[in-house]
Amino acid sequence: MKFFVDTAETKDIRDLLATGLLDGVTTNPSLIAKSGRDFVEVIAEICALTNTPVSAEVSATDTDEMIAEGEHLAGIAHNVVVKLPLTLDGLRACAHFKRNQIRTNVTLCFSPNQALLAAKAGATYVSPFIGRLDDINLEGSNLIGDIRTIYDNYGFETQILAASIRTANHVTQAALAGADVATIPPDVIRKLVQHPLTSNGLAQFLKDWEGTGQSIL
Ligand code: E4P
Repeated sequence: MKFFVDTAETKDIRDLLATGLLDGVTTNPSLIAKSGRDFVEVIAEICALTNTPVSAEVSATDTDEMIAEGEHLAGIAHNVVVKLPLTLDGLRACAHFKRNQIRTNVTLCFSPNQALLAAKAGATYVSPFIGRLDDINLEGSNLIGDIRTIYDNYGFETQILAASIRTANHVTQAALAGADVATIPPDVIRKLVQHPLTSNGLAQFLKDWEGTGQSIL
């Protein structure tokens, strides 16, 4: 499963790229607002840090305006992926970008039927939101599994990008359900490596090793 980081904070992106674990970046209007930065400027800066896919979301709601905004965003760098909402206008824009070989991320997906439509429109990625379904007492990870089954039934190439991930457990659930990608907040990526038995075990090994008085080099 590929890991994208879900942030517009360039410091976090730089730190995580250095781990070699990162396969892409996603942003959304809320993350851009949180960064306090100019949208186009921050997307250009992120794209200068990495050749991996960087999702940048349109703010228009009408197909023609989405196309104009998406073409502008795609012109920033070769690795920009145009992020479009899962509406009929968004799907029409998605089909346009597919015809023009511009990659898309169809976002705000909450049902298997919506994901089916995104695939039919030629989306590169579809973003089902796990956390927001959990917020309303539904099992977000079931949606990932349902989309996996549907896409495999018909050989759709749209990649399932598990989004709205809030916990390390969401990452496990997305992987078990067959997501192609998970977009994960920086703090959750950092938590994935942590386990108390690893830290305790390492402390004990280091103590015992010190007792031997040996050194490897
Ligand atoms: C990413 O593409 C999504 O916009 C993001 O994961 C949404 O996460 P949230 O539901 O925690 O805001």
